[in-house]
Amino acid sequence: MKGIRSVGITGVGSYAPEKVLTNFDLEKMVDTTDEWIVSRSGIRERHIASEEKSTSDLACDASIRAMKDAGVKPEDIDLIIMATVSPDKIVPSTACIVQGKLGCVNAGAFDVMAGCTGFIYALSVARQMVATGSNNTVLVIGADLLSKLTDWEDRNTCVLFGDGGGAAIVQPVEEGYGLIDHIVGAKGLGHLCIEIPAGGTFMPATHKSIDDRQHYIKMLGKEVFKFAVKTIEKTTVELAEKTGIPIDKIKLIVPHQANSRIMDAGKKRLKLADGVMYSNLEKYGNTSAGTIPLALADALADGKINKGDYVMLVGFGAGLTNGAIIMKWAYEVNQPEKRYAVRGAVQ
Ligand code: UT7
Repeated sequence: MKGIRSVGITGVGSYAPEKVLTNFDLEKMVDTTDEWIVSRSGIRERHIASEEKSTSDLACDASIRAMKDAGVKPEDIDLIIMATVSPDKIVPSTACIVQGKLGCVNAGAFDVMAGCTGFIYALSVARQMVATGSNNTVLVIGADLLSKLTDWEDRNTCVLFGDGGGAAIVQPVEEGYGLIDHIVGAKGLGHLCIEIPAGGTFMPATHKSIDDRQHYIKMLGKEVFKFAVKTIEKTTVELAEKTGIPIDKIKLIVPHQANSRIMDAGKKRLKLADGVMYSNLEKYGNTSAGTIPLALADALADGKINKGDYVMLVGFGAGLTNGAIIMKWAYEVNQPEKRYAVRGAVQ
């Protein structure tokens, strides 16, 4: 094994489909109101993929932008780690489909399923792979296309989710910069809190499972809410203590975007200054493994991050899982070649 080296994100890209579904559109579909959705979740609109698209398409569009941002070509990528809960198919991995579509002929590829924490899990694996010298250029993706797995008759869930995702290129960086440390955790006894019951070996797909709508996302919202509020605080504090980086030195916390009340509670419990807890939730809703890289890309585009800033990503979600990763941002963001186009069609 080669020596440990500094590893960081060297490019970021994101993608959300062009079609927007607003809360007012939802008022016409289920018994809900814009007022309820905004006050209970903070979401105003979400992006919805067109019928012919699958998760790998969103992942590819985000990855093309990330590669362009980092100045790498598909053949430079030597590993693809894809975090998703909405794979194109049960078999094979969506990472392999992405590898084929992008022409990353020199890359190994595998999926990580860790709910909405998936991007953090994937990034932490990439960190180790590059630090040890096993890989040099890893494409890490977090993307979900939940609109095809959402029960559009269930107002408890359908108002919350959206489609989209992001990608990051992970490479060796200047010493003293980049990914510093991470923690990942799970509480498997909570696996029923967010699930898609049918379609796997537990409940293979049958006419009955479909009639019973068991192939759609089910969520015990209140249980998850309580877990999330505790977790966002606990995980942030745990990683800050582990690394010795005080919370007030962190420039930006990019949390999983599930609910503005969860983020507000985190901000209050952690006594954060205004603007530290980043949110773009109102524009995208909850895109599961997609939210963190999508928010990171928007934060970069908004000029919230620059070289040397401490940035922490914090996640929680199905599993139940939690995790956080902290980095010292490794490059000047205002370089002319760094173009943070984050929405719409990929040029
Ligand atoms: O990404 C994975 C992590 N996921 C999360 O972090 C989600 C965590 N949970 C949440 O964000 C919140 O629990 C929700 C936004 C899902 C729900 O908020 P809540 O304050 O926990 O509402 P509730 O489930 O307690 O529902 C309150 C009321 C209920 O009516 P009753 O029983 O009080 O008469 C619901 O039936 O609101 C009703 N309700 C709705 N009303 C209008 C539920 N969904 C809707 C809706 N529109 N869409």
